[in-house]
Amino acid sequence: MIDFKNKIILAPMAGVTDYAFRKIAREYGADFCVSEMISAKAMEFKDKKTGALAEINEDDEPIGIQIFGHEPECMANAAYLLSRGLYEHTKSKLLPATIDINMGCPVKKIVTSGDGSALMQNISLAEKIIKACVDASSVPVTVKFRAGWDKESINCVDFAKMAEGAGASAITIHARTRSQMYEPSANWEYIKNVKESVKIPVVGNGDIYSANDAFRMIEETGVDSVMIGRGALGNPFIFEEIKSKKESKEYTEPTPRERVEAALYHTRLMIFDKGEKIAIPESRKHVSWYLKGLRGNAPVRVAINHATTYDEIEKILKEYINTL
Ligand SMILES: Cc1cc2nc3c(=O)[nH]c(=O)nc-3n(C[C@H](O)[C@H](O)[C@H](O)COP(=O)(O)O)c2cc1C
Repeated sequence: MIDFKNKIILAPMAGVTDYAFRKIAREYGADFCVSEMISAKAMEFKDKKTGALAEINEDDEPIGIQIFGHEPECMANAAYLLSRGLYEHTKSKLLPATIDINMGCPVKKIVTSGDGSALMQNISLAEKIIKACVDASSVPVTVKFRAGWDKESINCVDFAKMAEGAGASAITIHARTRSQMYEPSANWEYIKNVKESVKIPVVGNGDIYSANDAFRMIEETGVDSVMIGRGALGNPFIFEEIKSKKESKEYTEPTPRERVEAALYHTRLMIFDKGEKIAIPESRKHVSWYLKGLRGNAPVRVAINHATTYDEIEKILKEYINTL
């Protein structure tokens, strides 16, 4: 069983952390990955596309499958099916290590339905959901939430204690309020307060962009594990950087050429997983992230945005590599 001690974790990011991203993150040293969020309601409607989000390949373990929703019964049903590999539109029968409940998503469409971080304003409903999922799931249940709804209603410590009491095996705190969305910088003091208030493992999340950030978070807050989101976009190398520091090994930054080669590899993995037609449009943002900061990348990104096949992308990037 995953213990969430001393782990480097890839954050769940909808539309981003698919199989390809998770695989490359693991290859660079991520210990644990979480899926994109999955709608429990969509599962109730037996949505086919939702099934693909829960697929677990053999080289994609250990993994947490994240669900969102606000109805205890519906959420429990999703936890029941996903923890046992029983969702009819998910082919793989490999089981997740955890079911993670999303109680932190700030997106308007999500919170107006009462899902994601809206649940931080309704702690008794959140508790019912966690208890129902813990009862229904055959694997440990974890919860991801924020500091609170806004700065007038910071309640992460009470929320963490509630989650622990409701049976969560570990919690992740993203040290921002819902109102802050993703800016300005996270306040790690909230992580420290949460860590001091519960006995279950606490994963700290928010603004880790380097190994130094990760170690500073651990030092300042005492968290058991760290989770990286945006710092890994186009930069799976961050996992190697953190791991190297953890193991006191020397770390060398990837060269521009290595970054571009990783972009191509990432694109190939996406094609392997989803086929070229779906993967190419989705891969464009990843390629842009890999190229960020590299000399003369602007026209290359424009060209990539018009490319419709892997061969075209490869040609553009190989020509670019020769200029680096
Ligand atoms: C594009 C994007 C998609 C996200 N999708 C999810 C999601 O599906 N579930 C979730 O719990 N958090 C989601 N998040 C939040 C991240 O998991 C993380 O909590 C947040 O980005 C803060 O960490 P960071 O500062 O390391 O990026 C998303 C963030 C981004 C940028």
